[in-house]
Amino acid sequence: MTLFDLREEVAVVIGGTGVLGGALAEGLAEAGAKVAVLGRNAGRGEARVKVITDKGGRAAFVSADAISRSSLAEAHQQIEARLGAPTILLNAAGGNDPKVTVTPERAFETIAAEDWRANFELNLMGGVLFPCQEFGPAMCRRGKGSIINIASVSAHIPLSRVVTYSAAKAAVLSLTRFLAREWAANGVRVNSLTPGFFPGEQNRRLLFNEDGTPTARGQVILGHTPMKRFGEARELIGAAVFLASPRASSFVTGADLVVDGGFLAQTI
Ligand SMILES: NC(=O)c1ccc[n+]([C@@H]2O[C@H](COP(=O)([O-])OP(=O)(O)OC[C@H]3O[C@@H](n4cnc5c(N)ncnc54)[C@H](OP(=O)(O)O)[C@@H]3O)[C@@H](O)[C@H]2O)c1
Repeated sequence: MTLFDLREEVAVVIGGTGVLGGALAEGLAEAGAKVAVLGRNAGRGEARVKVITDKGGRAAFVSADAISRSSLAEAHQQIEARLGAPTILLNAAGGNDPKVTVTPERAFETIAAEDWRANFELNLMGGVLFPCQEFGPAMCRRGKGSIINIASVSAHIPLSRVVTYSAAKAAVLSLTRFLAREWAANGVRVNSLTPGFFPGEQNRRLLFNEDGTPTARGQVILGHTPMKRFGEARELIGAAVFLASPRASSFVTGADLVVDGGFLAQTI
């Protein structure tokens, strides 16, 4: 077995129906893991499973709403029956919402409490807390597991405008470290992965004009990125496989792995 071989692992990728989670589901499958692609959108989930199985990988779509504990419990049972007991949990459900973004028309103080709650419910509760509550204890009982929570550069120092998302993602870093400490003795490692800027559906209009040129905000981001480009989803795979592998990252827990073209390293 090589350092990065995942053939003995069963991975659960929540948000595997999305751009980054989908690429990561493919990457874990390419490293040998059996992968459960979780999300609400069956069309996108089945399409991702087909891409994986067409390449000889092993995967199944399992419908789940991450902000519902009962839905996650049901998905857990299905995964155990169809693929086996999960040993990797990759939490990639989440995203910003225009309703909680500060703009010239929407002042910070006017963002509604229910919109703050909904964004925390997605990025913190459904994004990390509920999946960890569902899958973590079973991993602890079996004495083996790697949990990878997708954070954001905005979790470290909040970007302008995305106040709610940044606060929720900062809480993701905190929860990651808390669980790393709690579950280390049970053989379960908990780390986060911080992507920089990866164009996807949810942020495309923020980063690109209709004609494909970067927006003003996109240009500021590129100007602040030493590598002078955005990331491609597949560039996160190496980091995720490393954190998932019980051999490659056996002594790594409570860590945050940044994949951002140098964005967080740059000041002036
Ligand atoms: N793209 C970037 O540049 C970037 C940078 C830093 C961090 N991130 C983070 O990376 C993660 C993935 O982002 P992305 O760019 O790949 O966005 P995306 O394509 O919009 O994916 C988001 C995923 O979240 C899932 N999701 C949302 N609500 C859910 C729910 N209630 N239950 C289950 N799944 C739910 C969606 O699945 P369904 O619709 O099928 O439910 C979708 O698969 C997010 O946490 C995001 O904050 C992205």
